[in-house]
Amino acid sequence: MSFTEGQPMNSAQETLISRRSIFSFRDHPVDRNILEEAFEAARHAPCHKHTHPWKFYLMGEATRLQLIPGVDQIVRLKNPEATSNLFEKARRKILEPPELIAVSSRKSPDDPFREEEDYAATVCALHNLVLSLWSRGVGAQWTTGAITRDPVVYDALGVSEHEERVIGFVKVGYPEEVPRTKKKALDEIRFYLP
Ligand SMILES: Cc1cc2nc3c(=O)[nH]c(=O)nc-3n(C[C@H](O)[C@H](O)[C@H](O)COP(=O)(O)O)c2cc1C
Repeated sequence: MSFTEGQPMNSAQETLISRRSIFSFRDHPVDRNILEEAFEAARHAPCHKHTHPWKFYLMGEATRLQLIPGVDQIVRLKNPEATSNLFEKARRKILEPPELIAVSSRKSPDDPFREEEDYAATVCALHNLVLSLWSRGVGAQWTTGAITRDPVVYDALGVSEHEERVIGFVKVGYPEEVPRTKKKALDEIRFYLP
């Protein structure tokens, strides 16, 4: 399965099968047109009852800097003896990705089933975004680390924790390398029943 940076994939199947989570990115911003195309793909995800429960927040430097006190606090709580190296490492995870997108899904406190279906729809939208990027040679990694659930995120985005749930961040950029991942064999996951 081929992957060439910046080159469109030949088929949808090739995009689906070759996609990998990318953990290291080149220090280069992503073309705005490619990002817009990916948001357009996300917008067309399925959602029951036409709720369109997703929101995508592309976080620039000023917004990311607002997250750093939360990052530091998480490091401190995990390890009271943390060295400056550990703080630096954790901060880099937020400050270094060429693009960083927070993804939220609408909450429905009075209707848990609606909220669950909306979460499912938002995951579809997120993956549409990731696959669209991948089809253009741009990599992504979905992360659900502690910072993505921290109150500083809601403050930085200016959204209410009662109305939206941040389901994760997506780091985006041109891949430094594409990892290999072992997947289950088809026979282990697909069953034709009589
Ligand atoms: C809901 C979800 C949350 C994830 N959170 C993280 C994360 O916090 N940190 C991380 O390194 N990868 C995270 N990943 C990426 C997975 O590690 C990755 O999908 C897995 O290694 C399989 O690799 P692949 O995406 O290349 O198929 C997450 C993936 C999903 C679907």
